[in-house]
Amino acid sequence: MTAYIGASVSRVDGHAKVTGAAKYAGEFNIDNVAHGYVVVSTIPKGRIKRIDTRDALRVDGVIDVLTHENRPPMAGTTQAYKDDVAPEEGSPFRPLYDDKIMFSGQPVALVLAQEWETACFAASLVRVEYEKEAHVTDLQAWRNQAIVVEKPEKPRGNAEKALAAAALRHEAEYFIPTEHHNPMELFASTVIWDGGGKLTVYDKTQGVMNVQRYLCSVFNMKSDDVRVMSPFVGGAFGAVLRPQYQMVLAVLGALALERSVRLVLTRAQMYALGYRPATIERLGLGAKAGGTLDAIMHEAISVTSQFEDFSRNDTGWADLLYKCPNTKFVHKIARLDLPTSSDMRAPGATTGVYALESAMDELAVALKLDPMELRLRCYSDRDQNGDLPYTSKQLRECYRQGAEAFGWDKRNSQPRSMRDGSELVGWGMATGVWEALQMPTAARIVLTANGHAEVSCAASDIGTGTYTIMAQVAADVLGLPLENIGVKLGDSTLPQAPVEGGSWTAASAAHAVVSTAEEIRKELLALAKAMKNSPLADAKLGDVVLADGKIVSKRDASRAVSMADVMHHGAVDRIEKEKTNSFNDNSSHARNTHSAIFAEVKVDEQLGIIRVTRIVNAVAAGRILNAKTARSQIMGGVVWGIGMALHEETVFDHRFGRIMNANIAEYHVPVNADVQDIKVIFVDEPDEIINPLGIKGVGEIGIVGVAAAIANAIYHATGKRVRDLPITLDKLQR
Ligand code: MOS
Repeated sequence: MTAYIGASVSRVDGHAKVTGAAKYAGEFNIDNVAHGYVVVSTIPKGRIKRIDTRDALRVDGVIDVLTHENRPPMAGTTQAYKDDVAPEEGSPFRPLYDDKIMFSGQPVALVLAQEWETACFAASLVRVEYEKEAHVTDLQAWRNQAIVVEKPEKPRGNAEKALAAAALRHEAEYFIPTEHHNPMELFASTVIWDGGGKLTVYDKTQGVMNVQRYLCSVFNMKSDDVRVMSPFVGGAFGAVLRPQYQMVLAVLGALALERSVRLVLTRAQMYALGYRPATIERLGLGAKAGGTLDAIMHEAISVTSQFEDFSRNDTGWADLLYKCPNTKFVHKIARLDLPTSSDMRAPGATTGVYALESAMDELAVALKLDPMELRLRCYSDRDQNGDLPYTSKQLRECYRQGAEAFGWDKRNSQPRSMRDGSELVGWGMATGVWEALQMPTAARIVLTANGHAEVSCAASDIGTGTYTIMAQVAADVLGLPLENIGVKLGDSTLPQAPVEGGSWTAASAAHAVVSTAEEIRKELLALAKAMKNSPLADAKLGDVVLADGKIVSKRDASRAVSMADVMHHGAVDRIEKEKTNSFNDNSSHARNTHSAIFAEVKVDEQLGIIRVTRIVNAVAAGRILNAKTARSQIMGGVVWGIGMALHEETVFDHRFGRIMNANIAEYHVPVNADVQDIKVIFVDEPDEIINPLGIKGVGEIGIVGVAAAIANAIYHATGKRVRDLPITLDKLQR
């Protein structure tokens, strides 16, 4: 059953994407569409005293200007359904809800015009008078007012006491600034007014069902009246797990005008939506002289808004990686006058593991131990938080294979000891860990007598390769060539799926296909048995597979009937099945993906310029469904890790509570020149416990630990420890 599963199949949607045939939310051309442009708040906190839209309305081609004073009705912010990814505490932001300003960049008016240019110009004529209130947007200034949030990691032993008594101690504070997702595709929604109050919404989203439920609850509509589609998504990374405000505004516009509306945010406006929260991470590690851990304390303080308490697990990852009898984990959040922070690729782990793995490197230096050797001495075969075994954990192999591919044994442990001409050479390493999640997901398969199958599911493919892996799995379990499989995704009328996130879609969607294909096989077998002189007359469901267009006995391949014959005899030209797959998620095992990252940097001694010349990322993530798309996921994560280590930072002017680099010219991300040699290794990791196919997902593990490996390499090159990301050359020279 593995002709396609695991193979390096090129993306089935690749041709459509490179030729422009794949349409994104803002690209659906429809007749008589009105264009929106958003006016945003210039203050971070206060209320709107007066909003004057008269000049804007006088512009030729302007149809209407919506504000909190004249918008169509919408439900209050404490409505029961918030959205699938909303924090438990608080009320989601609702655009144009009232006169209250909660963050700079908050939408205060929507200009609707015949042409986009007209809307854009008229927006500049909307006059807003504010009543300002004092604001706080600086995490460092507010860190002492942060409040503790409940997290699942329990303390063990007495970490304070053990830390104080430790033979060797490392205590330090690390800082990760606010970062933004910056997906290539702008946040966009095209709302088609279908008449009679029915809407079709093309939205940039990771979850069409989430958006549909949200719209139904906010606008009191029936689910049959709202269809949400996102056939293609140009990058997301968590930015559109939650329904974003442009979608709500576009719907408000459509309801007000009874007409189709398109709204595409500007790049700058996108910075007032989700972001990776700035986080202070305090680590305390206590070791015995032999290099085993006796105490771990990890405290995180991260940013959220005044209206929702968002946080993820920054602390507690040490429990999964390192044996230690005394641990304490604390997570606090600082409520600031900013939009709510959000999920961004491996949320919590990307920041928390950066700090943990930097601290482990510092401890290794203090112990005069090779940093990989320290990790091996502390290696834990159990998740100590729940005292559970893993469904599988090949992290030792990650260390071994990664180190070998990198040439780690040739490392001189002395900082500043390795050189290449005028450059200092540094080698650093770190560990990565992420969750292997899976969610109930449904799929429909329609098999036609000509040997084609169409697989459909509401899930989005956010660029990760979902179309491709679903086609591969379907081809294998239906016994058909890949070219005969069609996949439809990103449509709320299709079988239900959760938001695409958390790296759970590969396992979830693949098993939805497997479960549904079993129903198809059941029906084909019933038809085959009904045939005269059937070679499968006494076969049971478990005895047969679908292969090479046939239904065939597992024990005796000569006992087979072609699917076409079976369907012909049964006088059916199509078999349609839909099934929701659920997983047997008892809590007897921990489920995680792991990685070991090895980084080489070269640092110009005079100028402090840092280049990341080599990265090896060895990943253990169960069965790899597609070696090519999976490698792309890890590569993308590594590139982002380079950005996190060296480039990325959302810069605020706290006097105004406003972002100063809300554009991709000044918000630095790695470019081709910053990305050199990246090697991805997938360590063999059979897993018979986690799910039938042994899939764990690879969308997020690729970034975790990368920034730490680079920071550790920079220390090794220069002897200088920078604990404040990004590591820019000025910090190195300080
Ligand atoms: Mo991911 S941060 O769950 O899109």
